[in-house]
Amino acid sequence: MSDASIIPADLPLRNDLVGEEPYGAPQLDVPVCLNVNENPYDVADAVADSIARRVREVAPSLNRYPDREHIALREALCRYLERESGASLNVDEVWAANGSNEIMLQLFMAFGGPGRSALSCDPTYSMYPEYARDTFTQWELCPRNADFSIDVAATMERIAQVRPSMVLLTSPNNPTGTPLPMDELRAILDYCQTVGVADAAEGTHPVVVVDEAYIEFRDPGVPSAVTLVNDYPNLVVSRTMSKAFAFAGARVGYAVANAGIINCMRIVRMPYHLSAVTQAVALAALDHTDEQLAQVAHLRDIRNDTAQWLAGQTYRGIPLQVAPSQSNFLMFGGSFDDRDAIFKDLLGQGVLIRVVGPDGWMRVCMGTDEEMEQFKTALTQTLRRMEQDA
Ligand SMILES: Cc1ncc(COP(=O)(O)O)c(C=O)c1O
Repeated sequence: MSDASIIPADLPLRNDLVGEEPYGAPQLDVPVCLNVNENPYDVADAVADSIARRVREVAPSLNRYPDREHIALREALCRYLERESGASLNVDEVWAANGSNEIMLQLFMAFGGPGRSALSCDPTYSMYPEYARDTFTQWELCPRNADFSIDVAATMERIAQVRPSMVLLTSPNNPTGTPLPMDELRAILDYCQTVGVADAAEGTHPVVVVDEAYIEFRDPGVPSAVTLVNDYPNLVVSRTMSKAFAFAGARVGYAVANAGIINCMRIVRMPYHLSAVTQAVALAALDHTDEQLAQVAHLRDIRNDTAQWLAGQTYRGIPLQVAPSQSNFLMFGGSFDDRDAIFKDLLGQGVLIRVVGPDGWMRVCMGTDEEMEQFKTALTQTLRRMEQDA
């Protein structure tokens, strides 16, 4: 890979991008990769065969542009959402793109922009400020409570001050794993319908984006925000096939919202943004929903066991804290005064996790049973070494 910091001085890079670096969680070739919240299980052979068949079917017509409205995929996603969340949705309320990253960028392109602000609750997903930067949208944050839940009253106060065009709520949140209870979401949705938007026409209200990238890992019985889409014209839920659905390499994310919001996204999307190959592989995977989601319950168990194990460890005599998580990762530590040293020591043992979140915390994603055993063995070693160095 070329060194990303080398930008020739004679290139007219946008002034506000000078000094910026590309997003990059490290992609290292190590035995245990637990740093980007993927599903660790391979796609099953039967599913891989279906994918190959579907791609073979579309291959002869790759001389033509794909269905830019990707209707078959949106229909399949409606069926999935009915089954997964009990939501009854029409095709014009669902929209797919190349990962939920692209869904978010389309939302920022449609609703953000110069003079506009987007507001979220800190800490949260590190890519949001980049979408804001790329679309000239002012990025605003309201701190979360000490337990990483949203401070609803303070968030509403900030909404009233800032009058953002977008409010971003992540549930479960990354990097903390914290869910957003439905009553709190409803309260914010109701409140947003009483607030205006700076630099927008009178009578407009903030769009509330709920990022549910990890929602399938929630405890059974907990509702998803997609069930509220028919009640709230200002709600859009972003989802992805990258995480629980074990399909990160295919790059398929989707939005669920009132048809009006989807129409706004259609204005800014690239022409034919979703290739015929992407549509075909997503349809094949959705034909095999059971196989693709087969390990979700097990990953939930691994998360709960690992949380318990972590809570029993100490760093320099202080018990590790573990943020309660409804996701496939855990944020832990709370008192790490040299996260980079811990990161490097683990990496030296072939285990890659992530330095992310508030000072003192790190994040580990759930791997297979074997990978988690390797993680525990390595972390035990690391913590022991740190104890000795203290
Ligand atoms: C909260 C959150 N949203 C969105 C994404 C992007 O997912 P994708 O673009 O793979 O759908 C991620 C990826 O880690 C995430 O953590």
